[in-house]
Amino acid sequence: MRASMYAVSLLFTAPLWLGACSEDDADPCASRNISLTASITNAHEGENDGSLTANASGSAGFTFSIDGSNFQTSPTFSGLAAGTYTVTAKDGETCTASQQFTVDELADSQVSYDAQIRPIIEDVCWSCHKQAGQPGFPHADLSTDDKVKANASRINTEVQAGRMPKGGSLSSAEKAAIAAWVAEGAPVNN
Ligand code: HEC
Repeated sequence: MRASMYAVSLLFTAPLWLGACSEDDADPCASRNISLTASITNAHEGENDGSLTANASGSAGFTFSIDGSNFQTSPTFSGLAAGTYTVTAKDGETCTASQQFTVDELADSQVSYDAQIRPIIEDVCWSCHKQAGQPGFPHADLSTDDKVKANASRINTEVQAGRMPKGGSLSSAEKAAIAAWVAEGAPVNN
Protein backbone atom coordinates (compact mmCIF):
# COMPACT_ATOMS: atom_id res chain seq x y z
CA MET A 1 0.00 0.00 0.00
CA ARG A 2 2.71 2.41 0.95
CA ALA A 3 4.79 1.48 -2.09
CA SER A 4 2.04 2.13 -4.59
CA MET A 5 1.24 5.56 -3.16
CA TYR A 6 4.86 6.52 -3.59
CA ALA A 7 4.78 5.36 -7.21
CA VAL A 8 1.70 7.45 -7.88
CA SER A 9 3.13 10.61 -6.43
CA LEU A 10 6.30 10.20 -8.46
CA LEU A 11 4.23 9.89 -11.60
CA PHE A 12 2.55 13.18 -10.94
CA THR A 13 5.53 15.20 -9.88
CA ALA A 14 8.14 14.05 -12.38
CA PRO A 15 6.50 15.42 -15.55
CA LEU A 16 5.98 18.83 -13.97
CA TRP A 17 9.60 19.05 -12.94
CA LEU A 18 10.85 17.90 -16.37
CA GLY A 19 8.58 20.35 -18.12
CA ALA A 20 9.88 23.33 -16.19
CA CYS A 21 13.44 22.30 -16.89
CA SER A 22 13.13 21.78 -20.61
CA GLU A 23 11.35 25.11 -21.00
CA ASP A 24 14.31 26.85 -19.38
CA ASP A 25 16.76 25.08 -21.65
CA ALA A 26 14.82 25.93 -24.78
CA ASP A 27 14.64 29.70 -24.26
CA PRO A 28 16.32 31.37 -21.31
CA CYS A 29 15.19 34.72 -22.76
CA ALA A 30 11.48 33.93 -22.85
CA SER A 31 10.78 35.56 -19.51
CA ARG A 32 12.99 38.64 -20.19
CA ASN A 33 11.23 41.84 -21.01
CA ILE A 34 13.96 43.95 -22.56
CA SER A 35 12.77 47.29 -23.80
CA LEU A 36 14.56 49.96 -25.79
CA THR A 37 14.14 53.68 -26.06
CA ALA A 38 16.47 56.22 -27.67
CA SER A 39 17.27 59.88 -27.56
CA ILE A 40 17.82 61.19 -31.05
CA THR A 41 19.61 64.15 -32.59
CA ASN A 42 18.23 64.82 -36.05
CA ALA A 43 20.46 65.26 -39.09
CA HIS A 44 20.75 68.16 -41.47
CA GLU A 45 19.83 67.45 -45.08
CA GLY A 46 22.66 65.57 -46.79
CA GLU A 47 24.82 65.54 -43.66
CA ASN A 48 25.87 62.69 -41.40
CA ASP A 49 25.44 64.74 -38.27
CA GLY A 50 22.61 62.85 -36.59
CA SER A 51 23.03 60.58 -33.61
CA LEU A 52 21.10 58.14 -31.51
CA THR A 53 21.69 57.03 -27.93
CA ALA A 54 19.86 53.87 -26.95
CA ASN A 55 18.62 53.13 -23.46
CA ALA A 56 17.87 49.49 -22.68
CA SER A 57 16.10 48.21 -19.58
CA GLY A 58 14.84 44.88 -18.30
CA SER A 59 18.19 43.16 -17.98
CA ALA A 60 21.89 43.95 -17.51
CA GLY A 61 25.25 43.83 -19.24
CA PHE A 62 23.98 45.32 -22.48
CA THR A 63 25.89 45.80 -25.70
CA PHE A 64 24.38 47.56 -28.69
CA SER A 65 24.34 47.19 -32.45
CA ILE A 66 22.95 49.27 -35.28
CA ASP A 67 23.67 46.70 -38.00
CA GLY A 68 22.61 43.55 -36.16
CA SER A 69 26.11 42.06 -36.17
CA ASN A 70 28.68 44.41 -34.65
CA PHE A 71 28.04 45.06 -30.95
CA GLN A 72 29.59 47.81 -28.84
CA THR A 73 29.38 48.73 -25.18
CA SER A 74 28.56 52.37 -25.93
CA PRO A 75 24.85 52.96 -26.53
CA THR A 76 25.62 55.96 -28.78
CA PHE A 77 25.75 55.84 -32.56
CA SER A 78 26.85 59.07 -34.21
CA GLY A 79 27.61 60.17 -37.75
CA LEU A 80 24.13 59.17 -38.88
CA ALA A 81 22.28 60.51 -41.91
CA ALA A 82 18.52 60.98 -41.69
CA GLY A 83 16.81 57.58 -41.91
CA THR A 84 15.37 54.69 -39.96
CA TYR A 85 17.71 52.48 -37.96
CA THR A 86 17.15 49.18 -36.19
CA VAL A 87 18.99 49.11 -32.88
CA THR A 88 19.57 45.81 -31.12
CA ALA A 89 20.41 45.50 -27.44
CA LYS A 90 21.97 42.26 -26.21
CA ASP A 91 22.21 41.47 -22.52
CA GLY A 92 24.92 39.54 -20.70
CA GLU A 93 23.24 36.24 -21.54
CA THR A 94 22.80 37.06 -25.24
CA CYS A 95 19.09 37.76 -24.99
CA THR A 96 18.27 40.48 -27.51
CA ALA A 97 15.61 43.03 -28.27
CA SER A 98 15.40 45.25 -31.35
CA GLN A 99 13.58 48.46 -32.02
CA GLN A 100 13.39 50.85 -34.97
CA PHE A 101 14.21 54.53 -34.51
CA THR A 102 14.05 57.36 -37.01
CA VAL A 103 16.56 60.17 -37.32
CA ASP A 104 14.55 62.94 -38.95
CA GLU A 105 15.88 65.40 -41.47
CA LEU A 106 16.18 68.92 -40.17
CA ALA A 107 14.51 71.58 -42.25
CA ASP A 108 16.75 73.49 -44.61
CA SER A 109 18.51 76.33 -42.93
CA GLN A 110 16.37 79.45 -42.99
CA VAL A 111 19.23 81.82 -42.31
CA SER A 112 22.25 82.50 -44.49
CA TYR A 113 25.34 83.29 -42.46
CA ASP A 114 27.01 84.95 -45.44
CA ALA A 115 24.03 87.10 -46.36
CA GLN A 116 22.49 87.87 -42.96
CA ILE A 117 24.80 87.27 -40.01
CA ARG A 118 28.35 88.10 -41.05
CA PRO A 119 27.34 91.53 -42.41
CA ILE A 120 25.91 92.46 -38.99
CA ILE A 121 29.08 91.35 -37.23
CA GLU A 122 31.34 93.20 -39.67
CA ASP A 123 29.31 96.41 -39.98
CA VAL A 124 28.03 96.76 -36.43
CA CYS A 125 30.22 94.74 -34.04
CA TRP A 126 33.71 94.92 -35.51
CA SER A 127 34.18 98.52 -34.39
CA CYS A 128 34.53 97.10 -30.87
CA HIS A 129 35.03 93.32 -31.21
CA LYS A 130 37.64 92.74 -33.91
CA GLN A 131 41.02 93.39 -32.39
CA ALA A 132 43.00 94.17 -29.27
CA GLY A 133 42.62 97.74 -28.07
CA GLN A 134 38.92 97.94 -28.90
CA PRO A 135 36.49 98.27 -25.96
CA GLY A 136 34.62 95.01 -26.58
CA PHE A 137 37.53 92.84 -27.63
CA PRO A 138 38.57 91.54 -24.23
CA HIS A 139 34.98 90.43 -23.66
CA ALA A 140 34.27 88.78 -27.01
CA ASP A 141 36.61 88.15 -29.96
CA LEU A 142 34.40 88.17 -33.06
CA SER A 143 37.26 88.51 -35.55
CA THR A 144 36.68 85.24 -37.49
CA ASP A 145 33.72 83.09 -38.49
CA ASP A 146 34.80 80.34 -36.10
CA LYS A 147 35.04 82.78 -33.21
CA VAL A 148 31.62 84.19 -34.05
CA LYS A 149 30.28 80.63 -34.00
CA ALA A 150 32.00 79.89 -30.69
CA ASN A 151 30.33 82.99 -29.19
CA ALA A 152 26.96 82.39 -30.85
CA SER A 153 24.84 81.88 -27.76
CA ARG A 154 26.47 84.81 -25.92
CA ILE A 155 25.89 86.99 -28.97
CA ASN A 156 22.23 85.98 -29.01
CA THR A 157 21.81 86.66 -25.29
CA GLU A 158 23.37 90.13 -25.52
CA VAL A 159 21.52 91.08 -28.71
CA GLN A 160 18.08 89.89 -27.58
CA ALA A 161 18.53 91.70 -24.25
CA GLY A 162 19.40 94.89 -26.19
CA ARG A 163 22.80 95.22 -24.44
CA MET A 164 24.64 94.79 -27.76
CA PRO A 165 25.52 96.55 -29.97
CA LYS A 166 26.63 98.87 -27.20
CA GLY A 167 25.41 102.36 -27.92
CA GLY A 168 23.45 101.20 -30.97
CA SER A 169 20.60 98.91 -31.94
CA LEU A 170 19.58 96.21 -34.36
CA SER A 171 16.29 95.95 -36.24
CA SER A 172 13.82 93.34 -35.06
CA ALA A 173 14.49 91.45 -38.33
CA GLU A 174 18.21 91.36 -37.54
CA LYS A 175 17.53 90.15 -33.99
CA ALA A 176 15.17 87.47 -35.33
CA ALA A 177 17.80 86.32 -37.85
CA ILE A 178 20.40 85.97 -35.08
CA ALA A 179 17.97 84.00 -32.89
CA ALA A 180 17.05 81.67 -35.78
CA TRP A 181 20.70 81.22 -36.75
CA VAL A 182 21.63 80.20 -33.20
CA ALA A 183 18.63 77.84 -33.02
CA GLU A 184 19.88 76.14 -36.19
CA GLY A 185 23.22 75.45 -34.54
CA ALA A 186 25.01 78.61 -35.73
CA PRO A 187 26.37 77.30 -39.06
CA VAL A 188 29.02 79.55 -40.67
CA ASN A 189 29.21 77.74 -44.01
CA ASN A 190 26.01 78.85 -45.69
C1 HEC B 1 30.72 100.50 -29.07
C2 HEC B 1 31.41 99.26 -28.81
C3 HEC B 1 30.66 97.95 -28.97
C4 HEC B 1 29.90 97.55 -30.02
C5 HEC B 1 29.57 98.29 -31.31
C6 HEC B 1 29.51 96.20 -29.70
N1 HEC B 1 29.98 95.84 -28.48
FE1 HEC B 1 29.74 94.04 -27.58
N2 HEC B 1 30.76 94.67 -25.96
C7 HEC B 1 31.29 95.94 -25.81
C8 HEC B 1 31.80 96.09 -24.47
C9 HEC B 1 32.48 97.33 -23.90
C10 HEC B 1 31.54 94.88 -23.80
C11 HEC B 1 31.83 94.52 -22.35
C12 HEC B 1 30.56 94.51 -21.54
C13 HEC B 1 29.94 95.85 -21.39
O1 HEC B 1 30.67 96.84 -21.19
O2 HEC B 1 28.72 95.94 -21.48
C14 HEC B 1 30.91 94.01 -24.78
C15 HEC B 1 30.54 92.72 -24.52
C16 HEC B 1 30.01 91.87 -25.46
C17 HEC B 1 29.80 90.49 -25.27
C18 HEC B 1 30.16 89.69 -24.03
C19 HEC B 1 29.07 89.74 -23.02
C20 HEC B 1 29.45 88.85 -21.86
O3 HEC B 1 29.04 87.71 -21.85
O4 HEC B 1 30.19 89.34 -21.00
C21 HEC B 1 29.24 90.00 -26.40
C22 HEC B 1 28.86 88.57 -26.69
C23 HEC B 1 29.09 91.10 -27.30
N3 HEC B 1 29.57 92.22 -26.71
C24 HEC B 1 28.55 91.00 -28.56
C25 HEC B 1 28.40 92.07 -29.42
C26 HEC B 1 27.76 91.97 -30.70
C27 HEC B 1 27.17 90.70 -31.30
C28 HEC B 1 27.81 93.18 -31.26
C29 HEC B 1 27.27 93.61 -32.59
C30 HEC B 1 25.89 93.31 -32.84
C31 HEC B 1 28.48 94.06 -30.31
N4 HEC B 1 28.81 93.34 -29.22
C32 HEC B 1 28.73 95.40 -30.54
C33 HEC B 1 31.34 96.92 -26.77
C34 HEC B 1 30.70 96.87 -27.98
